[in-house]
Amino acid sequence: MRLAVIGGGGFRTPLVYAALLRDREPGRVTSVALVDVDEQRLATMARILAALADGVDDAPAVTTHTDAAEGLRGADFVFSAVRVGGLEGRAHDELIGLAHGVIGQETVGFGGVSYALRTLPTVMQLADLVKRVAPDAWVINFTNPAGLVTEAMSQVLGNRVIGICDSPIGLARRALSSLGLRVGPGVEVEYAGLNHLGWLTGLRVDGVDLLPEVLRDPARIESFEEGRLFGAEWIRALGALPNEYLHYYSSRREVLHSDQLASRTRARYLLDQQARFWADAHGDRNPLAVWEAARLDRESTYMATNRHSAGIGERDEHDLVSGGYEDVALALMRGIAHDERSRLILNVPNAGAIAWLDDDAVVEVPCVVDAAGAHPVPGAVVPDFGRGLVTTVKYVERQTILAGLGGSRTAALRALAHHPLIDSVRVARALLDSATATFPELSYLV
Ligand code: G6P
Ligand code: MN
Repeated sequence: MRLAVIGGGGFRTPLVYAALLRDREPGRVTSVALVDVDEQRLATMARILAALADGVDDAPAVTTHTDAAEGLRGADFVFSAVRVGGLEGRAHDELIGLAHGVIGQETVGFGGVSYALRTLPTVMQLADLVKRVAPDAWVINFTNPAGLVTEAMSQVLGNRVIGICDSPIGLARRALSSLGLRVGPGVEVEYAGLNHLGWLTGLRVDGVDLLPEVLRDPARIESFEEGRLFGAEWIRALGALPNEYLHYYSSRREVLHSDQLASRTRARYLLDQQARFWADAHGDRNPLAVWEAARLDRESTYMATNRHSAGIGERDEHDLVSGGYEDVALALMRGIAHDERSRLILNVPNAGAIAWLDDDAVVEVPCVVDAAGAHPVPGAVVPDFGRGLVTTVKYVERQTILAGLGGSRTAALRALAHHPLIDSVRVARALLDSATATFPELSYLV
C-alpha cells in the first residue's frame, strides 16, 4: 500500500511513520511519499525517518516530492496536513485577535475563520488534484480547522475524505485511565459534536456505562486534564465531559486575559521553537533526538494559557506520550484497506447520526469503519445545552466555506459576526479588515 503525505515536511510526520513501523500485519503501507513545498525540510524529514527505520525489517520506503501530482500518483491513501501561511500566519491571527479583544486561537473564533479562509483555496485545489491523479485514494484530513476543511473537501471527494482529530480519543483515554482502564476491545465511547466542539457522553465497558462512575467522584474527575481544566463542579453540572477546546467558550474571559498577559502567543512560541528545531536538525548527526526533544517541549507547553487561566499547573507525564492521531489514522487506514471493522471517532457527514442536524453537515461522532468507508453510528447525543452552540458554529463554518469557495466577503463577515466568541458586528468587520490587510492571499474576498 502506498501513502502520500501532503505537508510531509511537517513536524508531526515522524509520528505517522513511527505508527507505520509498528504495523507488522500483511497489507501494511510499504511506501510513503512525502510532499512538501519546502525541499530542505523534506530532506531533513527523510533523515529523521531513516533514523526511525534503522534496524527495522521491511520499513516503508520513503520518497520526497515537491510536485504534489508526482507524489500522489498511485496513492491508496492521502494524508492532508498542510499549514497555509505557516506558523507566521497563525501568529498574525493571534495578534489580530488580541488587538481587537478576541481569542485568536487557530481553530476557534476569529483565528479559526481566518485560518480557514487562507486554507480553503489550497485544500480545494488538492481535492481536485487527488480526484484527477489518484481517484481511488482515500483522503484523511488533519488540516485544521479539521471539521470545516473536511466538509469543504467532501464537496469534491464525497465520502472519500475523512477528518481526524486526536482530542476525542485523548479525552476518552484520560477518562478511562481515571478508572484504571484503557481504550481497547469491549470499550465503546459515546461522543457527539463538531471538531473541537463536542462532548463525551458515555463510556461503555462491556456494555456498562462507566461515565456516571467518573462523574460521581470529584477527585476522580480532577485526576485528568479536562477534569482539572473545567473543574469537577462544572463537569458534574454538565453531566458530560467537554472537549478541551470548549474551554475557550466556557472560560472565554479568563483565557483571553491569560493570552493578553502571556509574553508570547502560542504560534510565536512555536515559531521560535521550530526555527531552532529545523536549524539544529538540518546539521545534526542525530536529528531524531533533536526532533524528540522538540516534540516533548511542544507537548508539554500545549494549551498553556488555558491551563494557566485555570490555575492547574503542568500536564500529566503520560499525556506527553503521543499515540493520538497517528494511531487513529492507522486504524482508519487498516479498517478501510482490509475491511477490518472498527469503531473510531471521526469527522464525517452526519447522515442522520445527530438526528436534528443536516445530513451533509460534517460532525465528529463515533463511526464504524469498513471497506466502504466510515459510517457514523446513529443516535449520537449532543447534550441539550450544546445544541445551540453546535447549530451556530456549524452556521459559521458554512458561511466560511461559502466565503472561501465563492470569494464572498459578506459571507466571511456573517461567519465572524455570528461566531459566539466575537461579540460585536463592528469588531467582526474590523477583524476582517485587519485580516485582509495582513494576508495578501485573502485578496480573493470581494
Ligand atoms: C491538538 C489538536 C490539533 C492541533 C494541535 C495543536 O492535537 O487536536 O487539532 O493541531 O493540538 O497543537 P500545537 O502544538 O500546534 O499548539
Ligand atoms: Mn484537533
